[in-house]
This record gives sequence, C-alpha cells and structure tokens, in this order.
Amino acid sequence: MTSLHAHPTTLFVNAAQTITCAGPGRARRGIEMQAAGVHAGLGVAVQGDRIVATASDDALRRQIPNAAEVDCQRGLLAPGFVDSHTHAVFGAARFSEHELRATGVPYMEIARRGGGIHSSVRDLRARSDEELYALAGPRLARIAAGGVTTIEIKSGYGLTPHDELRTLRVIARLAAEGPMRVVATCLAAHEIPLEYRERTDGRAAWIETITRDIFPQVASEGLATFADIFCEPGVFNAEETRLVLNAGKPLGLRPKMHADELHDGGAAALGVELGAVSVDHLAAVSPAGVAALAASDTVATVLPATMLFLGTGRQAPVRALMEAGAAVALASDFNPGTSPLQAFPLVLTLAVSELRMSAAEAWVAATVNGAAALGLAGETGQLAPGYKADIAVHAVEDYRALPYWFGERLCIGSWRGGRACHVTG
Ligand code: NIG
Ligand code: FE
Repeated sequence: MTSLHAHPTTLFVNAAQTITCAGPGRARRGIEMQAAGVHAGLGVAVQGDRIVATASDDALRRQIPNAAEVDCQRGLLAPGFVDSHTHAVFGAARFSEHELRATGVPYMEIARRGGGIHSSVRDLRARSDEELYALAGPRLARIAAGGVTTIEIKSGYGLTPHDELRTLRVIARLAAEGPMRVVATCLAAHEIPLEYRERTDGRAAWIETITRDIFPQVASEGLATFADIFCEPGVFNAEETRLVLNAGKPLGLRPKMHADELHDGGAAALGVELGAVSVDHLAAVSPAGVAALAASDTVATVLPATMLFLGTGRQAPVRALMEAGAAVALASDFNPGTSPLQAFPLVLTLAVSELRMSAAEAWVAATVNGAAALGLAGETGQLAPGYKADIAVHAVEDYRALPYWFGERLCIGSWRGGRACHVTG
C-alpha cells in the first residue's frame, strides 16, 4: 500500500535520550533555564522543514506509517545549537598575539600598537571575496560538525564601506550555500580604523561614515538583521554607541552590543536602554548592569571561550545573572583574535566548569536562548511541533555527557530544516 504525502515524513528514532528544550518560544529566564525537557528515547517526526510531532517511537510509527527513519544509534537526540555570536569571516589566524599575551601584553595594548583587530582589518582588505568565501566555508563545515545548525556572523574586519559591504555579501553567500542557517550582523563599529585615528575629527567622521553610508546601503541590500558595536573603554564610548545603534534602528537594523567585556563602562545598562536584543561578553558587568538586564528583555550572552583564551582568569557572573532573573545565552565568539573555537560543545563544558551552570541550563542557553538572541525563539532551538527541524544527534547516552567528555567530537549528525547539515558515515 502506498500513501501520498505532500511532504515525505521522516522519523528520528532509536535515541537513548532526547533533550527537547521545549517550552515557550521566547528567552527562558532565571530558574526557567533549569527545565531542558530530558526524556528517555522520545522520537521526533519531521515533515518538510518542520517538526510535526514528538512521541515514543512506537506511537510515531503508528501515527505515521511508512515514514522514512533516521536511526539515532542509541545516542542523544537534541535541538541543533544556535551559535549567536561569531566573527567567522576573516583572513589569517593571529598566532603571534596569542604568545604575546602570554608574555604579559594585554589585549587592548596590542590594539593600541595597531595589532589585534587592526591586523585582521589589513589582512581582510587585501583578500578577494572569493578567498574570504573559500576560507570561511570549511570553518562553517567544522562548526556544523559540532551540532550547530544556526550561526550568527558579523562583519567588522573591513572598516571601509566597500570592505564591510563585501564581507556582508560573503556572509550572504554562506547563508545561501552553506550548511547552516546564517544570521548576519553589521559590526562596522568594531573599531576606529587606523586611517581615521590619525585625523583629529576621525572618530566623528568614522561614525558618520557608518551611519550615513554603510547602514543605509546594508539595509537597502538586506544584508544584515543586526547592527553591533564594541562598546568598551578605549574603543567606542556610550555617546558614540547611542549614535550608531539609534541610526540603525529606523533602517531595521536591530541593536546588539559587545558590552562590558574587559572593563565595566555601564554598557549592559546602556544596551537595555537602547533596546538591544542582546548584550554580549559581560565579563566585567557591574551589579547595576546585572539588575538592568534582569528587568529587561535583553538577552545576556556570555562567551566563556573568549575569557579562557585571553587568559584573564575572569568570567561573566552568570549565577548572579540567572539568580536575578536574566535570560543567559551561550555563544562561541569564534574569531581569530580572542576565540579561535570551532568546536561549539566546548562552550557547554566551560559553562559548567567555569560559569557554574548546570548542564540543563547550559543546553537551554545554547539553544532556546541563543535563538532568542537572534530574534528566532519562535523558529528554532527546540524539538517541538511547529519548530524548524533543526536537529543534532550526538554519540552519548546522556545530555550531561556532552559537556563532560570535553574536546571529543561526538556529534554524529545534524539537520537544518530537515536537510542534512553534517552526517558522519
Ligand atoms: O568579541 N571584542 C571585540 N571583538 C572580538 C574580538 C575581535 C578580535 O580580536 O579580532 C570579540 O572578542
Ligand atoms: Fe565578538
């Protein structure tokens, strides 16, 4: 007997454990983050690009006879991770800075000497679009191989209108041709370009270039969802941040911020005031910043790999954020200077070991809350009917094993909108 379906149905079956993160389609805050929805071997039915049901394997087979099946091999069935903060389009690695910091030279001092972000800017400007695409593609494949199905990618190493726009066009091509769902962010306010620093009116001139030239063009080509800025003492100050983010809003560029990464500058509270969708980093956030976040809808995105790689010995006060009732998301900050991390599950290890999150909180932070940080909490991040079929299977029998067996490559398959993203033989 044959049955005709508009979309063929596939059942994900034979999981030892299933973590759904199912619940409201919005950021989970405070104690809500403890509920990750862990079940013994729940199956998932996918039709087209959506999840249509979750139930026991037998119940799904009865409901939907003759469906194709994906065998989860007694592993963990989970939502794909949402990596909501990366700088994945760049040229060369920056090995020498890593060693320089080991000798005691701080990150901001390297930037003052014209290194750091500036060296990636010089490098990106000298490369063709084709080269940038060819370098980023394999990075995205490695990230997808860790179980990530949605990734945010920022510009910010171009720092001219031409180079910011072509970075965003490379990101658009990665979105169209790469394995994952890609969300683009314009980070033209990553730094003051060195050629502007030399001018007395340079800061204001660069901000004018961003707001009058870059943002309108980005918006008219539909090249980004978000505008971001590095708001930090020594980079952009509060007034400049207001100017930049408020210029993006009427163009449809929703605000995000690099906030209170190394020094508290009141950036988290400023982000809340400006209606930022997320404020990211927060390793130096003040108690007032924590309180402002807890009383807002702004997601507090923490990037523990960055603090580890910088060797600061400090991390964002995540327990205080959650106890105050804030929504915490975890991301990789993948970039050549401060977080060359393509193996996303390590972020969950750092969440438990360094941020003192439970494994359940870490999973929610890396799925539902990552999606919320991208305005996608109603679309992805959960195994629940109606959500995109963004799914990963890991070769572990318990959701706590993923943060535990750190450094291993355990993802055996991932699907974005029901289509294979990464599947091992
Ligand atoms: O999120 N802090 C600013 N931006 C990046 C680092 C960029 C770089 O050093 O290339 C970050 O850590
Ligand atoms: Fe960053």
